Amino acid sequence: MTETYVFDPFAPGYTDDPYPEYARLRASGAAHEHPLGFWVLSHHEDVSALLRGSLSVEERNVGGALADLNAEMYGEREERSGGLSMLDRDPPVHTRLRKLVSKAFTPRSIAALEPEIVSLVDELLDRMSGPVDLVEALAFPLPFAVISQMMGLPDSADHARMRELTGTLVRSLEPVVDPQVAAEIMAADEELSALARGLIAWKRANPGEDLMTALIRAEDDGDVLDDDELVAQVVLLYVAGHETTVNLIANGALALLHHPDQAAMLREQPDLAGNAVEELLRYDSPVQFSRRITLAPYEVDGRTIPQGSFVMAGLGAANRDEAQWGPDADQLRIDRPEPRSHLSFGAGVHHCLGAALARLEGRIAIQRLVERFPRLALDGDVEWNGRINLRGPNTLPVTTG
Ligand code: HEM
Repeated sequence: MTETYVFDPFAPGYTDDPYPEYARLRASGAAHEHPLGFWVLSHHEDVSALLRGSLSVEERNVGGALADLNAEMYGEREERSGGLSMLDRDPPVHTRLRKLVSKAFTPRSIAALEPEIVSLVDELLDRMSGPVDLVEALAFPLPFAVISQMMGLPDSADHARMRELTGTLVRSLEPVVDPQVAAEIMAADEELSALARGLIAWKRANPGEDLMTALIRAEDDGDVLDDDELVAQVVLLYVAGHETTVNLIANGALALLHHPDQAAMLREQPDLAGNAVEELLRYDSPVQFSRRITLAPYEVDGRTIPQGSFVMAGLGAANRDEAQWGPDADQLRIDRPEPRSHLSFGAGVHHCLGAALARLEGRIAIQRLVERFPRLALDGDVEWNGRINLRGPNTLPVTTG
């Protein structure tokens, strides 16, 4: 690959299919310095090591390298507010927040959701017939209902508005945003936080057997989440709870629609469902990048990334690295040995806290979908959401056959 190669996630058509660009990126070397000043890693080994290292998430929200980048692209500095959620904090604050939230978000409480998820999926599939948009019919409503119920949101909550706001808020995960979108993100964050504040107050008066009540009560050696911390973790879990899983189900279903032999294999061998979900996560990652700031000069394969740099760790690119998966890295094989070493849930201290929940929802939804509709087929063009990071279809037209 020549020196002049420039990774361009802003090119037309990129978000429809970024994988050919990732192949060029991986071939261009281990660490790619973009002319705008940010760095991109794409090799499995390097992305994994970076996420397991002690780079900062906190710095990316308080100006610094990211604001410089935005100023370079749009002529305006974007000062993102310093989030209080664990996703935006470094240790030791991160360690404390994660420990408190983990007390409410236990593997047992997740496993107990299985029967509820099965009936939700079956209800949604019962309503599907003829031509439908699989995003609106299954991929979105399932995780949205699961996280709303888990949280114990009252029916009176303005779910439609909350959906709109979370759709705006997740754009904060894009590498850069124009000043107009940045203002919309900040406004959405404020409005969603105000809604969460109201819901928490209501929940204090109406406690239940739910995640929000458990977060209010979560305690570790006398330490509890204060009001602002509580709001930030509730918003994080609510947003992370559905904006990512929707892509797992939609991208996963699309991959199987493109590979009917793999869908048939899953129908014939239902025991493969767990492995199939890992392979679908690897094949088309719902989250494409984790973002970090270097706190010291950082070495990657003989290149030095300077201190204070914004680094995009390519989860989706690493998941197709032939050095990790062999020459068939670009192929979907639901019986692939060990797809689980994919990086779709990140790695290190920020490894996805909701991975078990996402896996459970993905497995039940995908398996029951292929079983129920053996003749499911694409019925028009997929419309992508245009995001670089939380990439997935906006609409996925299918016919149930
Ligand atoms: C963190 C992916 C579903 C809650 C993360 C990270 C990734 C990720 C890549 C790490 C971000 C980073 O390194 O900067 C996904 C994917 C999902 C999914 C692909 C679905 C397929 C969920 C669900 C929940 C959740 C269902 C909760 C209900 C979280 C939380 C964090 C996180 C709380 C922050 C952890 C920390 O900072 O310590 N997720 N996620 N995620 N995820 Fe998920």
